[in-house]
Amino acid sequence: MSDHKPRFHEIWTSRWTFILAATGSAVGLGNIWKFPYIAGENGGGAFVLIYLVCIALVGIPVMIAEVLMGRWGRSSPIHTMYKLTDECGAPRAWHGIGWMGVIAGIIILSYYSVIAGWAIAYILKMASGAFVGISGEGSEAIFADLLSSPMTLVFWHSVFMLMTLMVVALGVTRGLGRLVQVLMPLLLVLLVIMMGFSIRYGDFGAAVDYLFSFHTDDLTVQGVMEAMGHAFFTLSLGMGAIMAYGAYMPERAPVGRTVLTIGILDTIVALLAGLAIFPIVFASSAIEASSGPGLLFVSLPIAIGNMPAGVLVGTLFFLLVTFAAWSSSISLVEPAIAWLTETGRGTRLQGAILFGLTCWILGLGTVFSFNYWESARLFGKFNFFEFADFLTASIMLPLGGLLMAIFVGRFMARKRIEDEVQISRGPVFSIWYWILRWISPLAIGIIFAIGIARVFGWY
Ligand code: TRP
Repeated sequence: MSDHKPRFHEIWTSRWTFILAATGSAVGLGNIWKFPYIAGENGGGAFVLIYLVCIALVGIPVMIAEVLMGRWGRSSPIHTMYKLTDECGAPRAWHGIGWMGVIAGIIILSYYSVIAGWAIAYILKMASGAFVGISGEGSEAIFADLLSSPMTLVFWHSVFMLMTLMVVALGVTRGLGRLVQVLMPLLLVLLVIMMGFSIRYGDFGAAVDYLFSFHTDDLTVQGVMEAMGHAFFTLSLGMGAIMAYGAYMPERAPVGRTVLTIGILDTIVALLAGLAIFPIVFASSAIEASSGPGLLFVSLPIAIGNMPAGVLVGTLFFLLVTFAAWSSSISLVEPAIAWLTETGRGTRLQGAILFGLTCWILGLGTVFSFNYWESARLFGKFNFFEFADFLTASIMLPLGGLLMAIFVGRFMARKRIEDEVQISRGPVFSIWYWILRWISPLAIGIIFAIGIARVFGWY
């Protein structure tokens, strides 16, 4: 079939470009904005622990599987799945992994871009000195003010979509590889600085206690589901982004070690963000740990506004958050664009315009969730943004990951996998393979079944 022709994609210039690009994709709003607020909504410690367990037992093993599927197929997730189902004699229904991923990516990008837009807006607010000497109440008011202006939100959402599409249109090595090499190290340094200031200004002990001691009281079934979903979200897993990047990975690079590096870096950034944000939350009476999507935007500016050189640090911080989001957002459309160019039906630029417009329009739903449609509810509990987030992060990504684990674990020949992964031979490979075949699918399956039944009130 014409779909199975060899594809001609660029290959990353080195293993490090892959690590940086995949880390660039992994480290984003998920770590800095989302992790702290969902940890806060779910009561801290127990949630964090479940999240960490999910990263280790589900995230990293599935990520190895996803990378090796991509490198094997060497094309967009959709065509990679065509090729793999053929070669492994699997039913054609497995093509669904590719298609579902493209759709999930577009939905995620639609709201991701709106939140990234908040970060861009905050660069200017910081630079203008609006937060100098600010109180908790003052910071809340500035954020509420931003949310109540749909036009402003749409404007920054549009700016971020344009930024993303520009890089995507430029292509993988020219656009992306270069960008991340500069940005990732800078982000890490700045987060450490921020944490330093939070320790000085805030209540560090309370934050550590909150994040790392195991109080189960606030944890719900939906919380467990969110923790697992977030393990997928933060590693960019389950929708083909990592498969698409894996397709550009040099042949002989060791997958296992590479993935482990990415997983560890990603987790460090999330924990650093939590340790920068929560000390301030606990030192200020105006913010609740459970205050939701605004947590980052309300809490950190208080510390920043009250530290020496706050205007500079704050401006730089939101600039870096924007960059982190930028290097992530690109991977959300890459599968769709790669697919389109392979079919010969469009160029990267045309794909960027087509998918970009779709995301932009969908994103309006998220914009209005914070003002006009604030009280509208889907399934009696979600606003539009929450629903898009739940549908993708808690359902589509874990489902994609479950299917990948089953596909690699059950349909691909063990010998071939062994050659591909190059985790050191012997026990490490066997342990990974066993986890992938048994633990990951079972864990996802159980959490999933119970979670869905509970959320929709079936039991
Ligand atoms: N991992 C990114 C973050 O934490 C978001 C992201 C980028 C993503 N690409 C993805 C999530 C693909 C799921 C799938 O911000």
